[in-house]
Amino acid sequence: MILPLDNAAIARAADLIRAGQPVAVPTETVYGLAADATSGEAVARIYAAKGRPSFNPLIVHVANIAQAEALAEMSPVAHRLADTLWPGPLTMVLPLRDDAPVSSLVTAGLPTLALRMPAHPAMRALIETSGRPLAAPSANASGRISATRAKHVAASLGDRVPLILDGGPTRHGLESTIVAIEQDRLRLLRPGPIDAARLAEISGLPVEAAGDGKIEAPGQLSSHYAPGKPLRLDATDRRDGEWLIGFGPVAGDDSLSPSGDPVEAAARLFEALHRADATDTTAIAIAPIPSDGLGLAINDRLRRAAAPR
Ligand code: TXA
Ligand code: MG
Repeated sequence: MILPLDNAAIARAADLIRAGQPVAVPTETVYGLAADATSGEAVARIYAAKGRPSFNPLIVHVANIAQAEALAEMSPVAHRLADTLWPGPLTMVLPLRDDAPVSSLVTAGLPTLALRMPAHPAMRALIETSGRPLAAPSANASGRISATRAKHVAASLGDRVPLILDGGPTRHGLESTIVAIEQDRLRLLRPGPIDAARLAEISGLPVEAAGDGKIEAPGQLSSHYAPGKPLRLDATDRRDGEWLIGFGPVAGDDSLSPSGDPVEAAARLFEALHRADATDTTAIAIAPIPSDGLGLAINDRLRRAAAPR
């Protein structure tokens, strides 16, 4: 359903967010598909709606600095950039706080978090009214171009999202600049509306390009996903020394979803691997997950985790 942007529409969208559903919402860059970043199941529904075959880390959107500080370690440089460029089309990759209330599906298990304070009143109102930090990738089917109008979202995602807020065409029409904040330099991970010169000027640090304008998605690197122990896929039984992660009929020591629900499984995946790593077994085995719907993304992720390194 598409609703024109007004207070009633925001209230309805906030109810859906609190119920763990994704909502398409305009930002000043592109339309985002937003969900409660603190809920693994809500975040898993983003991937399901997009038909995304792998779990890339997502940007978390906040409405104020206090909310940002509760999620990530904000260095003085990060504060300086935030003071000048937030709210706006800048995403900062910062160390994730140990006690940050975000699902590990948002960070794809990384120790860092991509944070952005958007300027668009719709996204800001949705964060404030729902009271949740919102994870939001661009609101388009996986592999398709980003949506800059509500009708693009409807054409791309259709009835896979319960609500699309129509705020008209977006201002920038291009995703936010992504920059990793490091001790003595910044690394430009994705070029966007805010350029490197501006970042250098405000931060007083050199800005290095990461590759030639290519997105450096740590989600694509197997080493970031790999648990500390060998991982055996498609296991239906437990061998000596193994910790078995079950799914559906395979019970295991732990289960991604006893009922075989891929949304629940995706939400629990990273936690289950961390838990398996922390046991005193020497290896991890995991039950087969059917490759339909979100199962495709889960298996993509598991293949990387099991790949020889
Ligand atoms: O303008 C935007 O940024 C839009 C609107 C909706 O806010 N969002 C957006 O999200 O473009 P998405 O999911 O399409 O792009 C997120 C990208 C990932 O592909 C990844 O490269 C990067 O952000 N990213 C997220 N977390 C990261 C992290 N911890 N370290 C490095 N890169 C990260
Ligand atoms: Mg995108």
